[in-house]
Amino acid sequence: MTSRDGRTTAPGSLLIRGGRVIDPATGTDGVMDVLLSDGKVAKTGPGLDAGGGTIIEAKGLVVAPGFVDVHVHLREPGEEGKETIATGTRAAAMGGVTTVVAMPNTVPPIDTPAMIAYVLSRAAQDGVVRVRPAGCISHERKGEVMADLAGLKEAGAVAFSDDGNSVMNALLARRAMINTRILNVPYVEHAEDASLVDAGVMHEGRVSLRLGLAGRSPLAEDLIVARDLLLAEATGAHLHVAHVSSRRSLEMIREAKARGVPVTCEATPHHLVLTDEAVGEFDTSAKVLPPLRSEEHRLALIAAVKDGTVDVIASDHAPHGPLEKEVEFAQAASGMVGLETMLPLALEVLVRSGAMDLPGLVRLLSSAPARLFHLAGGTLAAGSPADVTVFDPELAWTVDPRAFSSKGRNTPFAGRKVRGRAVDVIVGGRIVVRDGGLV
Ligand code: NCD
Ligand code: ZN
Repeated sequence: MTSRDGRTTAPGSLLIRGGRVIDPATGTDGVMDVLLSDGKVAKTGPGLDAGGGTIIEAKGLVVAPGFVDVHVHLREPGEEGKETIATGTRAAAMGGVTTVVAMPNTVPPIDTPAMIAYVLSRAAQDGVVRVRPAGCISHERKGEVMADLAGLKEAGAVAFSDDGNSVMNALLARRAMINTRILNVPYVEHAEDASLVDAGVMHEGRVSLRLGLAGRSPLAEDLIVARDLLLAEATGAHLHVAHVSSRRSLEMIREAKARGVPVTCEATPHHLVLTDEAVGEFDTSAKVLPPLRSEEHRLALIAAVKDGTVDVIASDHAPHGPLEKEVEFAQAASGMVGLETMLPLALEVLVRSGAMDLPGLVRLLSSAPARLFHLAGGTLAAGSPADVTVFDPELAWTVDPRAFSSKGRNTPFAGRKVRGRAVDVIVGGRIVVRDGGLV
């Protein structure tokens, strides 16, 4: 059987035995077994019979729904030197991610139904996890003419975004929201006002002053978030704000949610863990959009995850090569890889810090993104796709970019000692990672 995202489902059964099963969607948290059969979750409970199938011993490990990452740059087509669907989905699997939403800022961008079909067919050939493409909001991502949103959805787009840039034209943003509302697909905004950003290359603050680099004010994010919240309220569209980084934006989103505006947002591990100090002496691996901000913003982001203002954790995995990164800071490309470090960083900053418990984090990584983007999975309820991540929350390792499955080595976390790692990862009943290594 082949599903829309190209995954074939494995026949036969697989028993994951004796792990701590956490399924936020069903309120499950306890030591038990999970039985997978014919690509679906058959049953969850104590003392299940493997029925002659394969057994995975999960004693001492956490058994969670496969993670769903709604913000991933796979770079195919057009920039296969940075990443491909083959390498990007392997990096996802190694990070415990079984579904990625692929961002459409490829070369050319994914702005037509044929491009969506192309990505899906490449994913069916080369992908080891599920790839659900996002389509562009505007033709060629130019922010001028609306793309064929209905056609994109028909072809398989699960979200719309001109990510990398804000939709700067309010008329286009409004029209697109009217359409995404009718189509019942999230409108995903990269919120940074291009005119206010000007030539800024990092967060505007003490560090940018010290380094003599032009800054990007958080106001650039706040202006677009304010505009979009008004547009979402007026149109009823589901606005999803990508990689929120500013304290004031979070306050506005919190207030809008309380009034019933249909808004959700995501936080990245890097904005939760790092500040603009990580730029250090012009370290381009810490250059990202929106920029790493000051401690005040970082703490506001953690508080917003804690109080539910932030709905999901997403990696914004953005691989770049040495040609784009080993250059002057101002010239360097923005973005960092994130799939293979998302879990340990989130465990560190959200769970071990005491901000939330483990089921809370599992929800932000699986059930919440699946529900908000209308994706199958994100739960271990019987009948759900057999997408499972078995992880060791305590396993200690040191981040070594050379060991990544991603082609991207651009991470500011190189050499960091972390804890937590995916051990066994199953997609559609097929084991794709076993004992911490790709199958
Ligand atoms: C992303 C990229 O490289 O495509 N870069 C980034 O700094 N985040 C684009 C994006 O997610 O905005
Ligand atoms: Zn973006």
